[in-house]
Amino acid sequence: MKSIFLLYLALLVLVSLLLRRLYEFPMPSFLSFWIDSKWRKKLQPPEAIIEVSEIRKGMRVLDVGCGPGGYTLEFAKVVGKEGKVYALDCQSEMLKRLEKKLKKPENKDIQNIETIRGDALRLPFADNFFDLVFLISVLGEVRNKKKALREARRVLKDSRSLVISETIADPDYVLKRAVERWCQEIGFEPVRCWSNFFSYVYRFRKKWN
Ligand SMILES: C[S@@+](CC[C@H](N)C(=O)[O-])C[C@H]1O[C@@H](n2cnc3c(N)ncnc32)[C@H](O)[C@@H]1O
Repeated sequence: MKSIFLLYLALLVLVSLLLRRLYEFPMPSFLSFWIDSKWRKKLQPPEAIIEVSEIRKGMRVLDVGCGPGGYTLEFAKVVGKEGKVYALDCQSEMLKRLEKKLKKPENKDIQNIETIRGDALRLPFADNFFDLVFLISVLGEVRNKKKALREARRVLKDSRSLVISETIADPDYVLKRAVERWCQEIGFEPVRCWSNFFSYVYRFRKKWN
């Protein structure tokens, strides 16, 4: 079972890598089955993201490139009624999938997510607006990565955190050391990192201007 899974994973990554060399596009929404799968969550566990991020009740959170919202829902449960999660994605199809999930009876208590169609490179928010910003498996799909990081920094309040997570199962995987270098150049300081062979979760703090 394990070897079939690894074979499937390797094949998926190889085909995707090939396609990514030829064309540039955001992850198609039909691949949501993989993004939302239990296998993917084993590789990039929500628990690790939640722990490293130190997300708390009452926070105003931005999930950039939220996709179908597999992690967004978890964030919304933690921040509770006193907080709010803004789920932003450039593809309306992804947002529709998230909205569909929110209509399910088991999610009826989650009323604190706002979905927004937008671009990571031009975030439609005021400066110093968020307590926490997430970029989970998104950076690799963004052409101008430093600009996306600058935008994340702009919308964060001083001393608040940006959390970046990547998994090698993503054909757009971004190396941890590259993320670390760009974030430091842009005005973040590394705070905490969790990693294993398959993925990492890195928290950075916005330095004061
Ligand atoms: C691999 S999926 C990850 C989804 C989600 N963060 C997760 O980890 O389950 C990447 C998502 O980023 C979105 N995306 C890519 N480029 C973007 C951009 N410039 N602005 C906003 N969203 C973007 C894609 O539409 C896609 O939904």
